[in-house]
Amino acid sequence: MTEILKVIQDRHSSRVPFDQGHAPSKHDLMQILEAARWAPTAHNMQNFEIFVVDDKKQLERLENIESKISEDFLRENYQQLSFSEEELLQKKVGILGSMFPPSWRTPGDWSKVARESERSSLDQTIKGSAMLLIVTYDARKRAPASENDILGFMSLGCIMENMWLMAQELGIGFQIMSVFGGNSVEQDVKKILEIPEYMRIAYAVRLGYPISRPSKFPRVRREIDGFVHYNRFEDMGFV
Ligand SMILES: Cc1cc2nc3c(=O)[nH]c(=O)nc-3n(C[C@H](O)[C@H](O)[C@H](O)COP(=O)(O)O)c2cc1C
Repeated sequence: MTEILKVIQDRHSSRVPFDQGHAPSKHDLMQILEAARWAPTAHNMQNFEIFVVDDKKQLERLENIESKISEDFLRENYQQLSFSEEELLQKKVGILGSMFPPSWRTPGDWSKVARESERSSLDQTIKGSAMLLIVTYDARKRAPASENDILGFMSLGCIMENMWLMAQELGIGFQIMSVFGGNSVEQDVKKILEIPEYMRIAYAVRLGYPISRPSKFPRVRREIDGFVHYNRFEDMGFV
């Protein structure tokens, strides 16, 4: 296996708590930012600004932001769940239901579950990380003729992957937190970090050193011949 493929395959979402007293070093942070810097972006627009948050007071303010789960998330999340490792291994896409609270994996009245779920603060998501990266973009700018800024979003994904692979290589835990780009949370984060109105949050990343082992579950991917079409479309039976 080539070295690059090994880093790609070893890269993973690190959802366990991180050591609160151990932020990545300045050198390692710079390596991660250098990887972001060289990411491909549509039209070389370099359509991103990255906020590094490692100040204890600022982290505390972010941790205190409250968020609430939406009915849409609950409904659509449920459709992607597997309820046993065997099911996940067979489906090869989606995630294991046991990652979520029981009420999120029991079909029912999602609006009621959403209403009844407690507001929770972001400290449960940030889980003690001593360093966060908040990736933002300027919503007023987009690559030429890119409807709905889709090329811009792809570019933000390239930045994500470059940083993730570098963190993996440096032995630093990395987890994407999409919730930072969600409506009410985004507004609160923007206030705390004094992010101008015209900028939007794409996602946040928690970086750090895990203090516990993740629970074991299979990492699944489709086989290559499950998603490749040679020369013309071939129906492979997937919906
Ligand atoms: C655009 C995007 C958004 C994601 N949002 C989250 C998130 O909010 N929380 C999280 O734990 N993982 C998030 N992930 C990670 C995926 O769930 C994860 O990459 C996928 O389940 C495969 O697992 P792996 O990263 O361990 O290989 C996100 C990934 C991408 C590319």
